[in-house]
Amino acid sequence: MPLSVSVRDIQTLILSYHPVIVIETLEEERVQTLLKKATEEMSIPMFEWSIAQGLIRSPGTFNAPWVNEYAPPGTLKPAAIGNTAEPLAVLKHVQDMSIKALFWLKDFGKHFEDPETARHFREAAQLFSQKRSAFVLTGDNIELPREIEHDAVVYDLKLPDRDELSRTVKEVVRTMRHKHRTIVELEDQDMQALVQAMTGMTLKQARQVLAYAALDDGKLTTDDVERILHRKAQLIRAGGVLDYLPVEGNRVEWGGFANLKNWLGRAKVGFSPAAKALNLTPPKGILIVGIQGCGKSLAAKAIAREWKMPLLKLDAGRLYDKFVGESEKNFRKAISLAESMAPAVLWIDEIEKSLGATGSDSDGGLSRRMFGFFLTWMQEKSQEVFVVATANDISQIPPELLRKGRFDEIFYVDLPDLQERGAIFRIHLMLRKQDPSHFDMPTLLQASEGYSGAEIEQAVVAALYRALYVEKPLDTELLVQEIQGMIPLSVSRQEHLKQLRNLAQDRFMSAR
Ligand SMILES: Nc1ncnc2c1ncn2[C@@H]1O[C@H](COP(=O)(O)OP(=O)(O)O)[C@@H](O)[C@H]1O
Ligand SMILES: [Mg+2]
Repeated sequence: MPLSVSVRDIQTLILSYHPVIVIETLEEERVQTLLKKATEEMSIPMFEWSIAQGLIRSPGTFNAPWVNEYAPPGTLKPAAIGNTAEPLAVLKHVQDMSIKALFWLKDFGKHFEDPETARHFREAAQLFSQKRSAFVLTGDNIELPREIEHDAVVYDLKLPDRDELSRTVKEVVRTMRHKHRTIVELEDQDMQALVQAMTGMTLKQARQVLAYAALDDGKLTTDDVERILHRKAQLIRAGGVLDYLPVEGNRVEWGGFANLKNWLGRAKVGFSPAAKALNLTPPKGILIVGIQGCGKSLAAKAIAREWKMPLLKLDAGRLYDKFVGESEKNFRKAISLAESMAPAVLWIDEIEKSLGATGSDSDGGLSRRMFGFFLTWMQEKSQEVFVVATANDISQIPPELLRKGRFDEIFYVDLPDLQERGAIFRIHLMLRKQDPSHFDMPTLLQASEGYSGAEIEQAVVAALYRALYVEKPLDTELLVQEIQGMIPLSVSRQEHLKQLRNLAQDRFMSAR
């Protein structure tokens, strides 16, 4: 989201009598830019408070112009107003000020534990709501007392967009070149690739990885793009519930799925500039249902690869892990991260496990709320985030999700037919350096009737082990032995497969 939109949002909140605006973020630099712009345009003064500095008139704003931009840090900082370092003191001071202004309180959340502070804050907020002054609270995991929550609105500061990142990249490159004598070998389009690689990072992270890449070998070249992507994957994984697979690392092969591939070919047009010019919204996403091992997960990866988009996988297990933090917040963050990296594919594997089973109250309605949020997001999203959801068990999926208009299309994957099994055999033999023409295909295809892709792969691997063990080359006979020694899911879970087929066959589009 461009900064100008956030600036307008903040201004609207202030003008519409919102005395307390909460922004959960550690990116104070961006908050400062945002609030500075917002207040400058509205010609109202802005004040900043932290327990370390006390209350100061924000430097560089309309009413307190920053005289010398190039002065070393600290030289021209305005002095704190009175004795305002203590939380209670600043609130009392603010209550006595008659001007209309914006007060940015950093890391104030913890101080609400003191009842006196909480009460003073509340009274100040009530006063503010009459004269359109406002508090902005920033910090991590801000918890407000009930009575204050009532007056507060939470503003979701999106991750920096390409423009913001691009400005930061240019600034870092300039510094590196002049101060550190870094050799910069980047054309315009390399710069764009660099910025693209940094989407999804905070400005601070972007600055750090770039400086690291430059200082490491004294050079900034296109090679660094790869390194930054690698670092981003680590950051995303460490940050919560998403796994990230860059376009460059995605090398999957998938056989079959003719219908799905056709559909995707057509849908891809929706991401083109021509479609944008016609105000067409990009495709929202698809749901793929089918039994285990039929290549649903594979399809998600293949779509990202074919469309040359980064793949973000939602890790359902970690979504509910209490050690990662609040599930709902994590989910929102994940979606927000995906949006900042758009165009991207967001893969929700086995969606019935993360967002399904909403009837149960065991989690206090948590998954129901997340599910509601997800539905609304799907409905309204305009960002180029293509959702690929997969499901093994549709009886666990809330019916709302299957209704028309949520996903662009729902696909059903059945067991692979003859032709597809051929393709799958070839892929997996070749992946393991075997020449498919050395095998008797008709025999293999007949033996593997009713087997899933995963089972075929498993048979190829097991037969190769066996071949190594008996010290002879892999042949048709060894493969057939392995195939016949397995009990496929289509036999062991015959009832389940029949049920799924009955439910899905007529309602959903066949992926094959
Ligand atoms: N159509 C296919 N083409 C190639 N390999 C396949 C296919 N279907 C399944 N496989 C193999 O089986 C493995 C498991 O498939 P996966 O995508 O995880 O199944 P699902 O998500 O439907 O349970 C894949 O990693 C792949 O190696
Ligand atoms: Mg899977």
